[in-house]
Amino acid sequence: MSYSRIEIAPSILASNFVRLEDEIRKVEEGGADVIHVDVMDGHFVPNISIGIPVVASLRKATRLPLDVHLMIEQPEEYIEEFVRAGADRVLVHQEATPHLDRALAMIRESGAQAGAVINPATPVLMLSDVLDKLDTVLVMSVNPGFGGQKFIPRAIEKIRQLNDWRGRYNAGFRIEVDGGVELENIGDLAQAGANTFVAGTSIFHTPDPAEAARQLRKFATEALKQRV
Ligand code: DX5
Ligand code: ZN
Repeated sequence: MSYSRIEIAPSILASNFVRLEDEIRKVEEGGADVIHVDVMDGHFVPNISIGIPVVASLRKATRLPLDVHLMIEQPEEYIEEFVRAGADRVLVHQEATPHLDRALAMIRESGAQAGAVINPATPVLMLSDVLDKLDTVLVMSVNPGFGGQKFIPRAIEKIRQLNDWRGRYNAGFRIEVDGGVELENIGDLAQAGANTFVAGTSIFHTPDPAEAARQLRKFATEALKQRV
């Protein structure tokens, strides 16, 4: 199965939380496909962000799918609650649990799509035995914990490798990339095989987030056309 659809996933971590609903409206207007929600516990990553009540509020504020990126220890403990609060997709870090297979199964059993995330230092190989349990593989192109960091180019090679696997094993997972995604690199990422592009700073820290989201999609789409 080949995946060519492009999804723009604004990360609300970079938005103005006081005006969260307005921020969501802006990116909806810009054609965003998914809202990316970064959950941090101050243990797995050195930062604390938002959690279940915010996901529940977002669920009431948008019809777009909620892509919930769990940067927390023992993610199994919270999967069901996040899904009940309205998460459509739940992403757990490979590094955060010794029971990734179980965590992925729990996500699907709870009724959401299951994703595994790998940090910059984690090889793609760590996911080779759970491919059939994945709706998404998220490749981190920064070390998780903060928005606004510099893109780590090695992520492109990892995306290529996942794209090869997808062809070789006829697997249906989408490839997502998160961290430092901007106009300068989105074309290369799309050509490597990425489908879902998380972008915080390059959308919300601009004067016109709707236009920024449209531009990102345009650059990714153009790059894919050039590949063919
Ligand atoms: C980082 C988060 C990202 C972050 C991306 O730990 O997972 O989703 O919001 O922000 P930018 O696009 O600014 O790198
Ligand atoms: Zn994220």
